[in-house]
Amino acid sequence: MRETIPMKSHTHPRIASPGACKDASAMLEVRRLSKDFGGLHALRAVDLDVYPGEIVGIIGPNGSGKTTLFNVLSGIHQATAGTIRFAEYADIARLQPYRITRCGIARTFQNQRLFNQMTVLENVLAGMVPRTFAGLVPIMLGLPGARRERVAAEQRAMELLGLFGTRLAPRRERRALSLSYANRRRLEIARALATEPRLLLLDEPAAGMDPSETRELMGDVQRIRDLNVTIMVIEHDMHLVKGLCSRVIAFDHGEKLTEGSFDEVRNHPTVIEAYLGHRAAATV
Ligand SMILES: Nc1ncnc2c1ncn2[C@@H]1O[C@H](COP(=O)(O)OP(=O)(O)O)[C@@H](O)[C@H]1O
Ligand SMILES: [Mg+2]
Repeated sequence: MRETIPMKSHTHPRIASPGACKDASAMLEVRRLSKDFGGLHALRAVDLDVYPGEIVGIIGPNGSGKTTLFNVLSGIHQATAGTIRFAEYADIARLQPYRITRCGIARTFQNQRLFNQMTVLENVLAGMVPRTFAGLVPIMLGLPGARRERVAAEQRAMELLGLFGTRLAPRRERRALSLSYANRRRLEIARALATEPRLLLLDEPAAGMDPSETRELMGDVQRIRDLNVTIMVIEHDMHLVKGLCSRVIAFDHGEKLTEGSFDEVRNHPTVIEAYLGHRAAATV
């Protein structure tokens, strides 16, 4: 079947300055996006924009629709209504996940989904499959024609592992299963980057990390953004959100409550109410 989505160009300009780049046109325009599960409205007519070079924080109580937003953005769930313009693609709201990957969006999951029995290197190579010509099996088997591609792919995989200093690269031949928890989370990000995304969606990347691991993660995410990858990050760790995000969007009950700087959002009455309300409900 003919691929109707043009492949993305890799020549988008590098954004040097940190933070929002609102002079540029939005990279992502979500309009009236809704997702229902039966009678449950997980997303309700959400409008949001993301600009190139931003690190946008997505916050909100559990069950407020944050992961559902990522699931729709990455094609895992089909939107019930609404549109998603991404870069030159007019509407990706109902595309299959592999096609969205080709458009340049990658994500990590709240719960890890690594290939446990495969090595660290193989996990990253597997992430490259949507971008390789030969496909995974010929590359893994080293079939003629796929060999040259394997060498180039391994080189790129090692570059991506190298983004995490000495955490992953020296462990390239270790099984994913044998890694520490924090290294497994890092590997998930490396694997997502293997698809060469322009937009990376991180779902609670600091969950389960201690404060020093979280600090290191913040440096890693900043480094990734400096490589010209725009980032949306769902996170409950407010220290991370404050330190990392140029803009924050708050959700509750599937709706966008407000957006702005960390301080603006944190002090917004509806956000305080949403968190206090949930906390009060949890203590009842
Ligand atoms: N696959 C699904 N089937 C049915 N309900 C779902 C599904 N995924 C999420 N939900 C519901 O949608 C709401 C939002 O969930 P979610 O997006 O995971 O919230 P968050 O990530 O903000 O904690 C919740 O009420 C959740 O139970
Ligand atoms: Mg979630």
